[in-house]
Amino acid sequence: MSVCSSIVNFGGRNNKIKSLLLVSGGAAGMFVALNIFQENEIFYEKFLMPALHKVDPEFSHNFAVTVSKYGFVLRSKYKDPDTLSTSLGTLKLNNPVGIAAGFDKQGEAVEALNKIGFGFVEVGSVTPVPQPGNDKPRVFRLLEDEAVINRYGFNSEGHDIVYNRLHNLRKTNYVGIIGVNLGKNKNSEDPLEDYVSGIRKFADVADYLVVNVSSPNTPGLRSLQSKHHLKELLSGVVAARDDLPANCWTPVFLKLSPDLTDEEKRDIADVLKDPKCAIDGLIISNTTVGRPENLQSNSVFEEGGLSGRPLRDLSTNLIAEMYSLTGGKIPIIGVGGIFTGQDAYDKICAGASAVQLYTSFIFYGPPRITRIKKELDELLRINNYQSVEEAVGTKALKLTEKRSWWPLW
Ligand SMILES: Cc1cc2nc3c(=O)[nH]c(=O)nc-3n(C[C@H](O)[C@H](O)[C@H](O)COP(=O)(O)O)c2cc1C
Repeated sequence: MSVCSSIVNFGGRNNKIKSLLLVSGGAAGMFVALNIFQENEIFYEKFLMPALHKVDPEFSHNFAVTVSKYGFVLRSKYKDPDTLSTSLGTLKLNNPVGIAAGFDKQGEAVEALNKIGFGFVEVGSVTPVPQPGNDKPRVFRLLEDEAVINRYGFNSEGHDIVYNRLHNLRKTNYVGIIGVNLGKNKNSEDPLEDYVSGIRKFADVADYLVVNVSSPNTPGLRSLQSKHHLKELLSGVVAARDDLPANCWTPVFLKLSPDLTDEEKRDIADVLKDPKCAIDGLIISNTTVGRPENLQSNSVFEEGGLSGRPLRDLSTNLIAEMYSLTGGKIPIIGVGGIFTGQDAYDKICAGASAVQLYTSFIFYGPPRITRIKKELDELLRINNYQSVEEAVGTKALKLTEKRSWWPLW
C-alpha cells in the first residue's frame, strides 16, 4: 500500500469516527431534549438531576438560574385546575405552589419560574447595598437526607440592580405574582432603615414584600424576632408602607425561623395584635440550625441553615401553632420540606393558604412542581374540598391540641 493510500484510508476512518460521534451526540441530544420537553419525571430523577448533583452545589445553582434567565425552559403543559386557585389576603393565585426565597436571589429568573408552573415567585433576599455573602464553599447537599445546608449569608447585588431588573420585567406587562424578600446588610448599623428602604424601593414592582429576620447566616439577624425588637421593627415598616401613595400599597409579610421557643411564638403573636404592627402575612419557615439525630450525610456538621425533608414537620407544626395563636386571622405561606402533594396538603390543613418549596426543586427539577400540584388537587377532591381555601387550617387545632392552654384570639 502506498503512503498516499494509507493516508486516504486513515482520513476515511477519521471521518467515519467523526460521523459516528456526530450521530450519537445528536441522538443523545434529541433524547435529552425530548425527555425535557415531555417533563419526564423519571428522566429528571434518574439521569439529569443525579448528573447535576455531581457538580458543586453553588455552581449548579448558578447554572440553573442562568439557564432560566436566558429562557431555556419550557412552559409547563399542566393547566392549573380551579381547585388550586387560592388567595393570600388580597392576592389571587392560580395555584398555591411558589418558589421560596433564595433560588432567584437577584431577580433574574422570574418569568422562567412562572413558566415552569410556580404560582408565585419570591425574589431575594435582597440587601440595600451589594455584598458578597460568606466565603465559599457555602452550600452543601445532604443527598441521603434529601436536605441542603446553606450559609450563603445574603450574597446580594443590592436594591438598585434587583429593582431595575424587576422594573424592566414589569414594563413588559408581566403580571405574575412577585414577592421581594428583604434582608439587611451584614455591617448595617440601622436594620430598621435597611428594611424601610426596601419597602419604599420595591413597593411599585412587588406584589408582596417580606421582612426576613429569620436567616441563620447573618449575625444577630434572628434576635430581631424578640418582642422588643420586633415591635420596633414592624411598627417602623408598617408605618413606612402606609405612608406610600395609595397605588403603591403592598402587603408586608414576616418570615419566621422554625427554631423559636414557645415564649417567642407567643410574644410574636402578641406583637402582631398591635394595630401598629399589623402585617399582612407570615411565611413559615426559614431553615433550621437544628440537626435531627437521624441525619446520615457527611455534611451534617457544616454550619448553616438546614432545609428539605428533615425540616418538614418542624415547619408544619409551627404553622399550626402560629395559625392557632393568631386565630387564623393572618394568612400564612407554608414552607419547609415539601416534596409531595401530601406535604403541601398537610401544611394547608395546618393553616397555610399557600406553600413554597426550594430543596425538592433542586433535587428533582421542574417535573416535581407539576407532580405536587396534581397530587394536591387529588387530595383536595378526595377530601371533598372544592378549593384550597376550604382546607386551610382544618387540622390546626388537632396538631396543637397538646398545647390547648394557648389563648386563642
Ligand atoms: C440554598 C438556599 C438559600 C436560601 N436563601 C434564602 C434567602 O436568601 N432568604 C430567605 O428568606 N430564605 C432563604 N432560604 C430558605 C428558603 O426560602 C426556605 O425557607 C427553606 O429552604 C425551607 O424550604 P425547603 O425545605 O423547601 O427548601 C434559602 C434556602 C436554601 C436551600
